[in-house]
Amino acid sequence: MQEHRLEATYQIYQNASALPAQYSKLLARAKTSLSHSYAPYSDFQVGAAVRLTNEAIVAGGNQENASYPLCLCAERVALAAAASQHPGVAPVALAVTTRKGENPATPCGACRQVIAEYEFRFKQPIALILQASDGPIYVFDSIEPLLPMAFDGTFL
Ligand code: THU
Repeated sequence: MQEHRLEATYQIYQNASALPAQYSKLLARAKTSLSHSYAPYSDFQVGAAVRLTNEAIVAGGNQENASYPLCLCAERVALAAAASQHPGVAPVALAVTTRKGENPATPCGACRQVIAEYEFRFKQPIALILQASDGPIYVFDSIEPLLPMAFDGTFL
């Protein structure tokens, strides 16, 4: 028997002014996109913004539905919009923010899998910049620490 250990590394910044400029700009766009959120059922507004290798930024907010399972998370709204508006261009960073909360909300399991697919597809990591309304900012260099041993196309 062998025991393997999985480790997750991420950075915590105390405020946006300490972030690299590209990340604080992306986070600001995510905050702007909170106003695009449609969340009448959960009242939990989420904004996301994706930066692509062509420097385009595409933002989105979560989109809910009275049929609850159809709710779309902000991360997937922004990533799908970016992939549609800029086909074939890799996403390199994703900022996510929420109207409520003190600590950053991390992407749900479904969004982690979708983010992992973009990393797999374009063969490059996507940095994650996460913050609640204010407070600490978590930065992950890739989705990998949040979804270790992810299922991807190599298994098929
Ligand atoms: N939500 C997101 O937009 N992103 C996440 O990573 C987690 C949850 C949304 C989905 C739903 O509209 C609301 O937050 C409450 O779950």
